Amino acid sequence: MNKRTCMRSGLFVILAAAGCAGSVGQAGSTSPSSDHNPFKNVAYFINPEYVANVEATAKAHPDMADKIRKVAQYPTAMWLDSIASVKNLTGWLDEAKKQQDASGKPTLSVVIVYDLPNRDCSAEASAGELKVAQNGLQRYKSEFIDAITAEFKAHSSQPIVVVLEPDSLGNLATNMALPLCQEARPAYKEGVVYAIKSFALPNVSVYLDAAHSGWLGWDDNRAKIAKIFKQVLSEAGGPGMIRGFALNTSNYTHLSNRDGAVLEPTNPCPNELTYAKVLGKTLEMYGFKNHGYIIDTARNGKGNIRKAWGSWCNVHGAGLGERPRAEPEPGIDAYFWLKPPGESDGVSDPSQPRYDPMCGGPDASKGAPQAGKWFESYFLDLVRYANPPL
Ligand code: BGC
Repeated sequence: MNKRTCMRSGLFVILAAAGCAGSVGQAGSTSPSSDHNPFKNVAYFINPEYVANVEATAKAHPDMADKIRKVAQYPTAMWLDSIASVKNLTGWLDEAKKQQDASGKPTLSVVIVYDLPNRDCSAEASAGELKVAQNGLQRYKSEFIDAITAEFKAHSSQPIVVVLEPDSLGNLATNMALPLCQEARPAYKEGVVYAIKSFALPNVSVYLDAAHSGWLGWDDNRAKIAKIFKQVLSEAGGPGMIRGFALNTSNYTHLSNRDGAVLEPTNPCPNELTYAKVLGKTLEMYGFKNHGYIIDTARNGKGNIRKAWGSWCNVHGAGLGERPRAEPEPGIDAYFWLKPPGESDGVSDPSQPRYDPMCGGPDASKGAPQAGKWFESYFLDLVRYANPPL
């Protein structure tokens, strides 16, 4: 999972300059109604597999067990990060249906769809299985998206939210200087368009990933991503095909403090709530109106933890953030734990495959397993530093 920023200092200047042009497009077109927030008036699916990780950790740490067990009461998203992982979706949605039947309340499952060819094109830690050069786009469509769509159709009585391909369009906005991203561009766009069209189902609401303020908050980067969103959505059938945008997925940027302003004073969006508002204004100029935002609050409870805003891997000192809930602020559909707190962002041992220097860097926690694997000591820190406290 890459969280590369388009910063104005150091290494990032070139990448930023390469990807930061953009002109304002035309307003217009249809949009989703603001009163159709899929997070409202529903229960949230609690994933027993996540609960099992939390419970095992609670057993191993009796001194913290009470606090740890509280984490298991909150929903987390389910990541579909490979073709093989789609088989888990059946079990998750079946279980969500059981929870729905037991409570008598529609039960929402939040699914992250994350397997584009050349995935994570500007980093190593979440490099995926599919390659553009090896028929990856075709396989993405037929073996991944079609299989997911079939499961969504088979569970048509349950509400589902999809967060589509974290980092992908953000990489197209700012990282075109990198060959792997350049090669990925047409495939990312076509894959995302295909997924949006496929997921146009009555029980499914789609949010496109819009990275976070420290990556796309600058004026020129917002214009760039808005242009890409507009192009992708016009190919997919218009802005009304999606419910909104997901912010801060797997990142650490605080909702409201001024850390960003200290780290990167030229960025007009020092935090995620400001980013949601300012990005919303930019997107209006490109024909997007009344779209909702999800903000990942799994790990952004504590501000001022990074030396560099661009640090994205198992950032040391992070705490759980706001608890998942609907409509916490006007215009925000939900705070949600998109990154299951306690799962690693990437391996910290340089001798391992998919090692990214960010995961061994000064802001990263040591002893980290591969991306997606349970990282117990990190989870304990998230619990300790939770804000609000557990
Ligand atoms: C990893 C996925 C994992 C997800 C959630 C991503 O960074 O690449 O494999 O499922 O994080 O932990």
